[in-house]
Amino acid sequence: MASLSRALLGLLAISGVSSAINLSVASKGGNVTTPIAYGLMHEDINNSGDGGIYAELIANRAFQGSEKFPSNLDHWTPVNKDTALSLKKLEKPLSKALPYSVNVKPSQKKGKVGLVNDGFWGMDVRPQKYKGGFWYKGAYEGDFEVSLRSAITGEVLGKKKVKGDGKKSGDEWIEKKFDLWPEKKGRGSNNTFVIEWDAEKVKTDDGSLDLNLISLFPPTYKNRENGLRVDLMKALEGLHGTFFRFPGGNMLEGNTLDTYWKWNETIGPLKDRPGMAGVWEYQQTLGLGLIEYMLWADDLNLTPIVGVYAGLALDGNFVKKEDMGWVIQYALDEIEFLTGDPKTTKWGKVRASLGYPKPWTVNYVEIGNEDWLAGRPAGFDSYKEYRFPMMYEAFKKKYPHIQIIASPSVFDGMVIPEGAAGDYHPYRTPDEFVKGFNRFDSLTRDNLTLIGEAASTHPNGGIGWDGNLMPFPWWAGSVAEAIFLISAERNGDKIIGATYAPGLRNMNRWQWSMTQIQHAADPALTTLSTSYHVWALLAKHIIRRTLPVDAPSGAPNFNPLYYVAGASAKGSRIFKASVYNSTEPIPVNLKFEGVPKGAKASLTVLSGPADPYAINDPFTGVNIVKEETKIVKAGEKGAFTFSLPALSVAVLETLDSYKL
Ligand SMILES: *[C@@H]1O[C@H](CO)[C@@H](O)[C@H](O)[C@H]1NC(C)=O
Ligand SMILES: *[C@@H]1O[C@H](CO)[C@@H](O)[C@H](O)[C@H]1NC(C)=O
Ligand SMILES: *[C@@H]1O[C@H](CO)[C@@H](O)[C@H](O)[C@H]1NC(C)=O
Ligand SMILES: *[C@@H]1O[C@H](CO)[C@@H](O)[C@H](O)[C@H]1NC(C)=O
Ligand SMILES: *[C@@H]1O[C@H](CO)[C@@H](O)[C@H](O)[C@H]1NC(C)=O
Ligand SMILES: *[C@@H]1O[C@H](CO)[C@@H](O)[C@H](O)[C@H]1NC(C)=O
Ligand SMILES: *[C@@H]1O[C@H](CO)[C@@H](O)[C@H](O)[C@H]1NC(C)=O
Repeated sequence: MASLSRALLGLLAISGVSSAINLSVASKGGNVTTPIAYGLMHEDINNSGDGGIYAELIANRAFQGSEKFPSNLDHWTPVNKDTALSLKKLEKPLSKALPYSVNVKPSQKKGKVGLVNDGFWGMDVRPQKYKGGFWYKGAYEGDFEVSLRSAITGEVLGKKKVKGDGKKSGDEWIEKKFDLWPEKKGRGSNNTFVIEWDAEKVKTDDGSLDLNLISLFPPTYKNRENGLRVDLMKALEGLHGTFFRFPGGNMLEGNTLDTYWKWNETIGPLKDRPGMAGVWEYQQTLGLGLIEYMLWADDLNLTPIVGVYAGLALDGNFVKKEDMGWVIQYALDEIEFLTGDPKTTKWGKVRASLGYPKPWTVNYVEIGNEDWLAGRPAGFDSYKEYRFPMMYEAFKKKYPHIQIIASPSVFDGMVIPEGAAGDYHPYRTPDEFVKGFNRFDSLTRDNLTLIGEAASTHPNGGIGWDGNLMPFPWWAGSVAEAIFLISAERNGDKIIGATYAPGLRNMNRWQWSMTQIQHAADPALTTLSTSYHVWALLAKHIIRRTLPVDAPSGAPNFNPLYYVAGASAKGSRIFKASVYNSTEPIPVNLKFEGVPKGAKASLTVLSGPADPYAINDPFTGVNIVKEETKIVKAGEKGAFTFSLPALSVAVLETLDSYKL
C-alpha cells in the first residue's frame, strides 16, 4: 500500500465521501500516434519455434548438427530392439545441407523393421489429416507403413500404407509423401510416429535402408505447407497485434561470428536448409525460416519489422570495420529477397523461383539485436562507431522509405541519428515500471523508440537477473506492464509500438519463465498468462490521436490511477487506465469534450484475486483474470461514472464517433 494512497484514504475518511477522480478529456490538442501499435516478437527461444509454434511433429527429423551440437539419433529408436540404427554420413547424402541420415539394419532379413520417433515431448494425435513425408535410399521391393501410436499402450491410433518404388529404388534417394488420418484420439500427447517395412523385401547387401528428412505435420494455420500450429496462432490472433519483429532476438546474432542466423539458409525446400547451432542450447531446424515468418505476418495482418544481422555475436566478437562490406550487402540482399522485383533483381528472382513472385512490403528494418549488450563495451562501441552508421547509410541510399531502427535506444546510451529510431527492452520489477511512468514524457520526437521487448520479470525487491525471476507472469506484474504501456501510449507520437517478450513458452523446456502463451505438445496445455489478457485488451483499442486530459486537482498526480486518453482512427473516444498500490476501488468521473449526455461506451475491466502474486498455472488451466465488459452511459454533465478496483486495468471506448 502506498503511503500516498494511505494519505488519500485518510482524506476520504475525513471528508466522509468517496471523492471521485474527475477527468476531462479535450477534443483538441494531442498528437497523432505512429502507424503501428502493439505487436509480437518471435525467435526460436527454448523450443517455442521447433517443438512450439512450428507445427512439425518429428523431433530431429533430418539429423541436423553443428560443431556445437553434433548430429545424433536423439528421439529415434528401432521398432525391434535387435534392429541397429546408425548415423551415417553417406558418400551420396540426401543434400549438401543434410549430410547425415539414419541407417536401419535388422538382425535378420525377415519380419517387420522400422523406427520410432517420440516427438517434441510427445505428439498430439486426433482424427484429422496429417501430412507427412520421408526420403529413403536402398533397393526395396515392398511397401511402407506409417502409423501414430500411443507410447504408453502401443495402441495404433491410425496407420497408412505408403507404396514403395520397387525396382526403381536403389542408389538414388526417393521421396515419399503421405496423408494419415487417425481413427482415434490419443489420450494425452504421449504418442509416437512409426515407419515400418518388410525386412525380407529389402534387396540391399546388408538388408539395411537409409532414411532422412522424416516429417509429419498436423493441420496448420490457414493450411500453410510447412506451417504453424493452429491453436497457438489463434491465441496470437487474440493479441490484436499490428506488427511482428523477427527473427530475434539473440538468435539473429548467433553464438559466434560463424553461426549467426543466415537468412539465405532458411529459404527453399527443407532439404536445402542445414539448420543452425541455436543460441538456446539446441540445434535448430530453421524449418521456420524467413518466408515462414513473412507468411506468419501476412496471416495475422502484421507489419513486419525485419531484424538484420549486424556483425555482433553473443560471445562478444564483432566484425571489423574493414570487413563490414559483406555484412551490409548481406542485409541489403535480404531486403531485396523480400521486396525485389521478381524479374529484374537478383534476389527477387530467387524469391520468385521459390514460388513467391509477389514482392512483400518492408517498411521497418532493425539493425542487429541488443547491440549494447554482448561484448560490452567494445561491442557497443563498434556499433556506435561504424557498424550502425555504415549500415544506416547503405539502407538510406538503397531503401530510403524504410524506417531504420537501431537495436539500442536512447535509454541504453545510444545517440539516435536523424531519421532513425531506437529499440528499448525493459525487463523490470513492477515498481520500477510504475515509478518510471514519466520516462517517455521528456523523450523528444527525434528519439523515436520501439519497445521491442518488455515484461515484468522480478518481484518488487527482487535482486539479480537470475536471482528470483518469477516462475510465471503474475497479476501485479501484469498490471505494472499496463501502466508502463499507458506511459508509452501517452507518448504515442514518439513510441513506435510495444511488444511483450518472449511471447511463447514451451512448458517442457524453459528457464525464462515470462510469457504470454504457455504451451506443450498437447493443445489442452495451451494457456494464456495474466499478461496476455492485459496486453490483448490494451491492443484491441488503438488510439490514433492522444488527447490532453485535464485533472482539476492541478498537475496530474497519477498515483494510484494511471491513464491515457485519445481517439481511434474513426473518432470514437478511448480511455485506458490502471490502478496500482491502492487498497480501495477508485471512483472516476470521466468527461470527453463534445460527447453528450446519454452517449454510450463499453467499459472493460480486468481485475485479479486478492493475491497480487496470483498466476495462470498452465497445469490447472484456471484463469485468475476476471474480465467484465458493460455498457455505461454518460450522465448529467456528460460524465461516465464508474469505479475501478484496486490492481486493475480498464479500457473505455465510446460506441459512437465524435468530431475532433
Ligand atoms: C507501492 O507501495 C509500496 C509500499 O508502500 C512502496 O514501497 C512502493 O514504492 C509503492 N510503489 C509505487 C510504484 O508507488
Ligand atoms: C469531482 O467532482 C465532484 C462533483 O462532480 C466533486 O464532488 C468531487 O469533490 C470532485 N473530486 C475531486 C477529487 O475534486
Ligand atoms: C503532444 O506532444 C507534445 C510534444 O511532444 C507534448 O508536449 C504534449 O504533451 C503531447 N500531448 C499529448 C496529449 O500527449
Ligand atoms: C511417455 O510414456 C513412456 C512410457 O510410459 C515414458 O517412458 C515417457 O517418459 C513418456 N513421455 C512423455 C513425454 O511423457
Ligand atoms: C549464405 O550467405 C553467407 C554470407 O554470404 C555465406 O557465407 C553462406 O555460404 C551462404 N549459404 C549458402 C548455402 O549459400
Ligand atoms: C533525444 O535526442 C536529442 C537530440 O538528438 C538529445 O539531445 C536528447 O537528449 C535525446 N534524449 C531523450 C531522452 O530524448
Ligand atoms: C533454455 O533451456 C535450456 C535447457 O533447459 C537452459 O539451459 C537455458 O538456460 C534456457 N535458456 C533460456 C534463455 O531460457
